[in-house]
Amino acid sequence: MQELYDAYNRHDPGRVAALYAAQGTHEDVAQSRVGSGPEAVRAGLEHFLAAFPDARWEPERIVGEGSRATAAYRLTGTLRGPLGPFRPEGQRLDLRGVHVLQTAGDGRIERTVDYWDGATFARQMAGRSSAPGAEDPLPAGEIPSAAPEGFRRAMRLLAGGVAVVTTIVDGRPWGLTVSACCSLTADPPQVLVSLDSRTASCRAIVDRGGFGVALLGSDQVDVARVCSASGRPKFVEELVDPEFVSAQSPVIAGALAQLDCRLVDSHRVGDHLLLVGLVREVLSPRTHEELAPLVYYEREFRTVGAALG
Ligand SMILES: Cc1cc2nc3c(=O)[nH]c(=O)nc-3n(C[C@H](O)[C@H](O)[C@H](O)COP(=O)(O)O)c2cc1C
Repeated sequence: MQELYDAYNRHDPGRVAALYAAQGTHEDVAQSRVGSGPEAVRAGLEHFLAAFPDARWEPERIVGEGSRATAAYRLTGTLRGPLGPFRPEGQRLDLRGVHVLQTAGDGRIERTVDYWDGATFARQMAGRSSAPGAEDPLPAGEIPSAAPEGFRRAMRLLAGGVAVVTTIVDGRPWGLTVSACCSLTADPPQVLVSLDSRTASCRAIVDRGGFGVALLGSDQVDVARVCSASGRPKFVEELVDPEFVSAQSPVIAGALAQLDCRLVDSHRVGDHLLLVGLVREVLSPRTHEELAPLVYYEREFRTVGAALG
């Protein structure tokens, strides 16, 4: 644990990342984010240090037993770079948190969980003044927003491709229909899906650290319906392609394409969790030629028309 704090205080994200096992994770409880693997740990710390170039961690008490250790710490710093909604105006950070650490047999970090004081952070970062012409900051919940019904009506007009996000629940294949799915970056290949955080699908994906994405074809309306049946378990044994049983997440037979993803980041937005998946493999379970996609538009399943040239 002391080694970790030394690396933090040397501002050496590479050294911090090297302390983690390849499958190691860092969970930031206040932000509901989980970084998987040393690269995610390094990127998270680099981002933080760009905002707080003088950050300093002072462990106040480290308690350890076997492969587990816990430390209460104090974190201080000055906001000098952009961080989410906060404008850098030299705000002072001074908060307390607790790190829980678990190591593997070889001494590398398997898991760290950081419980820090998010309320104090938000208060301290709220800023001293507004830039000229900037809108007045309003507390969350008081920002004027469009009526939900009008918003829903408008968004029905945005045609979206339909996918099934797959995972394993109670040892069995499981699939949830989604349209909130998009390509995020091509290099590295990453996708974004937005899931209701209260669903069994979302919990299973966070626990397993990975998920599959099956891009559905226009002849798979039944699949989309089974995997979106409200209030029903979404076990999909009969939909799984037996050819790909060895894949990390279930592969839906007949899908246009299937992505096998490792969960590398997550972000809570209201009652949803935005999940970022690093695509480990692209599988193409579809064997026949026809490749028309399934599309959801105006609350109906459809497919695309002729190309407009
Ligand atoms: C076309 C379509 C798109 C959907 N997109 C999403 C989505 O992006 N994210 C999500 O969490 N749920 C989405 N849902 C809802 C889920 O598929 C499912 O219907 C909902 O979670 C209810 O199931 P439950 O009662 O088991 O939670 C979508 C449903 C349909 C029919």
